[in-house]
Amino acid sequence: MPISFQEKSKVFTIHTENSTYAFMIERLGLVTHLYYGERIYDESDLSYLTNAAAVGRPALYPEITYPEFEAGDAKYCPHARLQEYSGFGNGDYRTTSLQGRFADGSQTIDLRYHSHKIVEGAASLPGLPCVYANEGEKAHTLVLTLKDAAQELYAELYYTVIDGHDELMRSARIVNKTGAPFMIDSALSAIVDIRKKDFDVITFYGRQDSERFVDRSPIRHGKISCESTAGLTSHFSNNSLILCEHTATEDSGECYGAVLVYSGNYTVSAELDHAERVRLALGINPAGFCWKLEDGEAFDTPQAILSYSNKGLGQLSRGFHNLIRYNICRGKWKDARRPVLINSWEAAVFDFDEDKLVEIARGAKEFGVELLVMDDGWFGNRTWDDSSVGDWTPNKNKLPGGITGLCKRINDLGMDLGIWFEPETISENSDLYRAHPDYSVQVPGRAPTRGRWELLLDMTRKEVRDNIYNQVAKVLTDSPIAYVKWDMNRYITDAYSLALASDQQGEFYHRYVLGVYEFMERLHQNFPHVLLENCSSGGGRYDVGMMYYSPQIWCSDNTCPTHRMKIQYGSSLIYPVSTMGSHVAFSPNINTFHDASVLTRSISAMAGTFGFELDPAHESEQSKKEMLLATNLYKKHYFTINHGDYYRLVSPYEQAVPTSRISAWQFVSKNQESALFSLVQLDNVNDSADFFVKLKGLDSRKTYKLHRYFDSRNGKEQGFTTYLDEAELGIFSGEVLMKAGLHLQLLRGDNMSTLIELEAL
Ligand code: DGJ
Repeated sequence: MPISFQEKSKVFTIHTENSTYAFMIERLGLVTHLYYGERIYDESDLSYLTNAAAVGRPALYPEITYPEFEAGDAKYCPHARLQEYSGFGNGDYRTTSLQGRFADGSQTIDLRYHSHKIVEGAASLPGLPCVYANEGEKAHTLVLTLKDAAQELYAELYYTVIDGHDELMRSARIVNKTGAPFMIDSALSAIVDIRKKDFDVITFYGRQDSERFVDRSPIRHGKISCESTAGLTSHFSNNSLILCEHTATEDSGECYGAVLVYSGNYTVSAELDHAERVRLALGINPAGFCWKLEDGEAFDTPQAILSYSNKGLGQLSRGFHNLIRYNICRGKWKDARRPVLINSWEAAVFDFDEDKLVEIARGAKEFGVELLVMDDGWFGNRTWDDSSVGDWTPNKNKLPGGITGLCKRINDLGMDLGIWFEPETISENSDLYRAHPDYSVQVPGRAPTRGRWELLLDMTRKEVRDNIYNQVAKVLTDSPIAYVKWDMNRYITDAYSLALASDQQGEFYHRYVLGVYEFMERLHQNFPHVLLENCSSGGGRYDVGMMYYSPQIWCSDNTCPTHRMKIQYGSSLIYPVSTMGSHVAFSPNINTFHDASVLTRSISAMAGTFGFELDPAHESEQSKKEMLLATNLYKKHYFTINHGDYYRLVSPYEQAVPTSRISAWQFVSKNQESALFSLVQLDNVNDSADFFVKLKGLDSRKTYKLHRYFDSRNGKEQGFTTYLDEAELGIFSGEVLMKAGLHLQLLRGDNMSTLIELEAL
């Protein structure tokens, strides 16, 4: 059984495909962690692993002991225990799971075993995104209820596993039956104590245009944490973290991954304690948070996803990719091939009208594009970014025939129309603001801060959400819109709602996220055919919570393919390429002024959702021919890319050969019949290094035919222009390709690329 309880030893054991997680009920109801690691198949009693049973000195002086303990029981002190969910104020001095105040102002929480049940099915969290089981998949959930030793305060802990997956989903529900309000100051989703310390911690950092860069450094005593107080996940860090052995590589070593299914303020941390154990902690950031839980009410934390791999980072990532693609993403677009789109933003910014958009669409159709996205600027009196957000009616100067007229012309081309909204903000220069200034988020008596000239809409209030929802729904109902880009271009400041009492203002940030989720759920339910792409000034809200509503998220506003190498490589540690919005943009790039060939830009976009973000009128006939080839290649390999396995081969963060950084990766179809190898050379200086890349994930018994697309360069006479060339590379066995590797001559020049198709014979 994936989840079991041994009555005699009082040990709970949870198995995933390749891991085992165990904890026990100790004396006096303490629920303490025993093991998380490689799968243990036999049914040995793991209770000997409790550190209460360890011989030797107590783990902490001066010891704090539980009230019931007797002399000699010092090893039972809370700070030494590996607790499944620990309360603040009774002697555990690390990050605790639950902190709050009872009606008398006291803060001590002492959680002990109360009851448990093991049920079929996955846990579901009201109003929150979470992992679900598909039809035919078996999920198992343990609900473990802890109770405070003195008060009727409960913590229900949910543990879900799904057959065939390696992830363990955890969340907590805090239930108040104390007869009076309980103020929650912090309720984390999960803590996990890992009894080992030779780890590196991998976190993600960044800023706009450089999101989710990888930071890998050895753990040290104290706490390494990533947090957001921006109200969104933010560009600065991501709500995921990996612990891996110092020596762990893509293919070897123990790794633990932790991801929060949430889109608001968060904390994720790894804390190496006095006794050389690491506590992972994930949940809503306590900063700015306080929740008044009335008697009889319950509070659900977001879900945390934990995973373990003893085969390196690659396996850990592929597990997350599968879970996110198939057990987080929902609806039609999780399986169906998504349209190749062209977005108007970099082509036109605010400067377009109906004719211009039709011209972009017509031009893009020539290279296989199927959908035009009309980005920002189509509504109200919008000509720049300082007005009209909140007025979701077409700008008659730009769109004389309205959305319906434009949609008809795009449909007549045999293409679909997509449209941009920014539903969470409001311009002061808008009809909506003039009619409902109270809809905006402001602290009474205090001048509000603005983000890109905008104020926030109070998404905690249903009437505010309804107003925007009705406007959006009208646009989607009046015309057959196939795609929506949901943008969010500012962080939260002045968190305050006119609808909340003064002792509930600490609920604002979380209620805001719940409001956004409710809005997106309505869209998902009522417009199931619409493909929703999230965006937040690029990748400022790139998280698993959002992926529950939108299967793709604009990864970054930086469309430069060479910079995207690092952004997409970092993102791939947790997130599947099917979620990474990525486009072929102008060359030179508008962000970095870097030149890149069509192939390089296409290879970068193919490690994502593949689309375009340029004006076809500015492209040469040669470029358009190459773009058509790239689009056709993408369509041909769509299922291998989006539903296959992803292998990172060479990291863009490292110097692969003395004068060149290289980024290389590979997609392999699940049946190992086809694969796609991609390589981009960065900063190359005519390197003559003998360069091999070992491929991964192929069937060693199969033979594969290799066809190569690569950048060639014309000579001086042609101004060193780059063009796309092709060559047959021959037939090789999977074994040779994986053991001896591909032998590649590096190409001369920066940002040159190679794409190799592998088809099994
Ligand atoms: C920020 C997004 O990241 C861009 O792609 C674009 O949609 C602009 N907003 C429009 O204002």
